[in-house]
Amino acid sequence: MSRRILVIEDEEKLRRVVQLQLQSSGYEVELAATAEEGVLAAERADLVLTDLRLPGMSGLEFLERTHAVRPGLPIVMMTAFGSVETAVEAMKKGAADFLVKPFSLDHLAAVVAKAFEMLSLREENKRLKEELGGRYQLDNIVGRSGAMQEVFGMVLRAAPTRATVLLAGESGVGKDMIARAIHYHSPRKDKPFVKINCTAIPENLMESELFGYEKGAFTGANMTKPGKFELADTGTVFLDEIGDVPLPIQVKLLRILQEREFERLGSNKTRHIDVRVVAATNVDLRRALEEGTFREDLYYRLNVLPINIPSLRERREDIPYLADHFIRKHAAELGTAELEISADAATKLMAYHWPGNVRELENVIERSLVLATGTTLEAADIRLDLAPRSRSAATAGTSVDGLFLPEGMTLDQYEETIIKEAMRRAQGNKSQAARLLGLTRNALRYRLGQMGMETGPDTDV
Ligand SMILES: Nc1ncnc2c1ncn2[C@@H]1O[C@H](COP(=O)(O)OP(=O)(O)O)[C@@H](O)[C@H]1O
Ligand SMILES: [Mg+2]
Repeated sequence: MSRRILVIEDEEKLRRVVQLQLQSSGYEVELAATAEEGVLAAERADLVLTDLRLPGMSGLEFLERTHAVRPGLPIVMMTAFGSVETAVEAMKKGAADFLVKPFSLDHLAAVVAKAFEMLSLREENKRLKEELGGRYQLDNIVGRSGAMQEVFGMVLRAAPTRATVLLAGESGVGKDMIARAIHYHSPRKDKPFVKINCTAIPENLMESELFGYEKGAFTGANMTKPGKFELADTGTVFLDEIGDVPLPIQVKLLRILQEREFERLGSNKTRHIDVRVVAATNVDLRRALEEGTFREDLYYRLNVLPINIPSLRERREDIPYLADHFIRKHAAELGTAELEISADAATKLMAYHWPGNVRELENVIERSLVLATGTTLEAADIRLDLAPRSRSAATAGTSVDGLFLPEGMTLDQYEETIIKEAMRRAQGNKSQAARLLGLTRNALRYRLGQMGMETGPDTDV
C-alpha cells in the first residue's frame, strides 16, 4: 500500500515539481494551496510537507492544530533561506524535519524517506511495546525464561541491521524459528527467505546449489540455473548446519560474506548480491576450528552477532508455557478439546531432561493429545521417549565414576570403536553418524581419514 503525502505550498510551480518528484518515487500525493485547505486533507495523509510561510494560517499554526488531533503525523517544513530560525522552532514543536528552499529533488527524496523510516521505527516500537506489556514477544515463539528473553532481545536488536548472525544450540531448541523471526522482523521481510540445509546437500552438488550454474558447465547441465544465493537476493539466506560445509565451499562463502560477490559454475561473470546471512550450528564450531575442518576467517565473519539458544533443560520454567502452547496448537489441528494439564503431568514434564529439546516436547504433547481420554491431560497420558540416547545420557550422568576405558584399550582405539559403531548404526551415512557423535560431517571425515577409513567424496544425505 503506497504512502500518501500531503503537500501544502502556495507557489504553484514548486507545488507541481514536488508533486511530480514524489509521484515518481511511488507516493500518492495530495495538494493544497493553503493551510486551511490542508487541515482537512491532513486526516488522510501519512506525511505532510508544508511551506512555513503561507497566506492565512502559517505552517507553524498548521503543525500545532494538526498535532493536537494526530500527534504522530510526520510534518516536514519547507522554509525560505532567511527563516531557518522559524524552522528550528518548528522542530522544537514537533516537526519531523525541514527543507531549506531552494532544495534539490534528491534532498527532498532523502528527507521524505528518512521521515518515513522514523515513522515505521516508531510504529514498530509502539506495536512491540503494546504487544509485550514490558516483555519481549515474538509471534508464536514461547519463552518466558530469562535466557530466552535475552535471546528475544538480541533478535529484536539484530533484526533491523544487515549484520550476520550465528545461532548456536542443540537440535530442536528453535534455531529455525529464530532465524525466521530475524527475517520477519527485518526490513527484508517482504523479500525472499531462503533456507539452505548444508547437511542435506551432497558435497559434490553444493557449489552448484549455492551459486548456480551455466548451461554446459558440467555433464547434465542442460540449462542455466541460478543458485540459492541468487534466489535470495535482497532477502535473507539461512545457512543451517554451517559446520557441514566442505572446506572448498567455505572459501566461497567467505567471499560472499566479505564482498557480496560470486560466480555461477561455468561462468566467469562476477555477480553482486545483497543478502543478509543467518547461520546456525548445533555443534561447537570452535572444536572444528582446532581440527582445521572449519576456516577461522569464515568463523569470525559469521560470528558477528552470536546468539546462543539454551537447551530446554537449562530453562525448565518455559516447559509449562510451551506445553500449553502446543496443546492449543495441536488441539486446533486435531480438532480435539484444549485440555488442561494436571499438576502431576506438569511435574512429569518439568522433571524430564529433554534430549530432543522443544521439538521432542512438541512431539510428546501431540502424542499425548491423541491418547488422552479425559478432560485434563494426566501424567499417565504422557509417554516420554526412552530412546537409547537419552538412557545412556542419563546413565552417564549418574555413574560417571564407574565409566572408564575397557581393559587394555587406549583412548584412540576406543574412539575408533565408537566411530565405527556410529557408522554401522548410521548404515554408512556420514551425516547421520556425525549427528550421533555430536560432530560435524567434516570433523567425522577428518577422523575417518586418520583411521584410514575415508571413502572419497561424500554423496550421502
Ligand atoms: N520457543 C518456541 N516456541 C514455540 N515453538 C518452538 C519453540 N522452539 C522450538 N519450537 C518448535 O520446536 C520445533 C523445533 O524447532 P526448530 O526451530 O526446528 O529447532 P532447531 O532448528 O534448533 O532444530 C519446531 O516445530 C518449532 O515450531
Ligand atoms: Mg533446524
